[in-house]
Amino acid sequence: MSTKDWRFTVVDRLRERVAEQRRAEARRFLEDDLRAMWREACTGVGLCHFIQIASGTTVRTPRFGGLRAGTDLTFSTELLPGQEPEDLREHATRLAHTLGAHGLRVEPLAGRWVRIVLLRSDPLTARVPLPACPLAHGAGRLLLGRAEDGSALTHRLTDAAHLAVQGQNGSGKSVFTYGLLAQLAAAPDVLITGSDITGLVLGRAFTGTAHREYQAVGTKDLVEHAAMLDRLVAEMDHRLDTMPPRQDSITPTITTPTVLAVLEEFPGLLRAAQAKDKKLAERITSTVLRLVSEGRKAAFRVLMLAQRFEANAVGGGYARDQFALRLSFRVPADSLVMLHGDDARHLGPQHANAAPGIAYLSGPGRDCVRLRAPYLGGYGEFCDRIARDGRRPTGETWADWTAA
Ligand SMILES: Nc1ncnc2c1ncn2[C@@H]1O[C@H](COP(=O)(O)OP(=O)(O)O)[C@@H](O)[C@H]1O
Ligand SMILES: [Mg+2]
Repeated sequence: MSTKDWRFTVVDRLRERVAEQRRAEARRFLEDDLRAMWREACTGVGLCHFIQIASGTTVRTPRFGGLRAGTDLTFSTELLPGQEPEDLREHATRLAHTLGAHGLRVEPLAGRWVRIVLLRSDPLTARVPLPACPLAHGAGRLLLGRAEDGSALTHRLTDAAHLAVQGQNGSGKSVFTYGLLAQLAAAPDVLITGSDITGLVLGRAFTGTAHREYQAVGTKDLVEHAAMLDRLVAEMDHRLDTMPPRQDSITPTITTPTVLAVLEEFPGLLRAAQAKDKKLAERITSTVLRLVSEGRKAAFRVLMLAQRFEANAVGGGYARDQFALRLSFRVPADSLVMLHGDDARHLGPQHANAAPGIAYLSGPGRDCVRLRAPYLGGYGEFCDRIARDGRRPTGETWADWTAA
């Protein structure tokens, strides 16, 4: 090494040390600021204990642990005795605003310690991309969207739940469905079937895939829709009749895939059928009722889409009760309460003006949340994905499976 190189190395090292010291100092300042603001924020929302001591009253707040390095502003804190992470979540927005953030996420660590992640902007305003790769099997985690606290919300198709999706025209129902179907199209143990009078969600986009044969589209031949639904029920009955001993539900395989029956604009199908022939409408209603009430054990899942999930528009209140997972894109306040119950009432006015792709989700065992659905690009991108990933036909059909 020449003398010149040696001198440069020493100067560079010194510069680096100075920069490092400055970073550490800035971090200490930030940590001290945050510690003080955290204490004030917790006191402000009442997440504190007042303790009487000889000299007066002192306030005890959740202890500030330490700042964690990383791209997000994150720190740990110790809950007070009697507190739960839920208590912090209840006040998340107020706490975050006091700390100068848009929102915050609370993640349990160990014991009474939790991690607080401060969010700089509203995760619901940013587009949520769809995972680049489709699911390898039907039990994989489907991305439903991103929640307000920035976390990913997922669902497994193998969980015993039918899906209800409502929303006004242009609120994002179809785009949400494109996202789900693009994620599922390649799974060897999933079959995407159903009825779509618009012919956009199902149908042409699936040409050349194993799914296409089990889809009824358009409004020209409504009897075809009824016949397709009858075919689904026949397969469901066959599965229930031939259930292996000591089992009360079908485990999906390549030969008995999870059947996802998509019913796009279902009230529209019923209306069209009613206008043509009342008997046809009744036939469709009773078939769908059987699918939603008996299908779960036979690995059948129904994804029903409607502008408004009114009981008489979707085949009756009993049919509506069968949907465990419920999503509402932009809807009037009364529709939100109708599908999600009184818990959602306070969100009614805000949700009536929600931007496309923002939905309210409720389901068993999960908190009711607002989310932003993934966006895979335009309709062309959906067609490209299905053409690229869609499972190819194997030559087998249901008639073969049923005979087997
Ligand atoms: N998750 C989303 N992210 C961004 N834009 C969206 C999203 N969902 C919908 N949009 C926009 O809204 C438009 C209407 O959505 P669409 O799904 O066709 O509505 P619906 O089926 O409820 O009538 C789309 O063309 C798209 O521009
Ligand atoms: Mg639509």
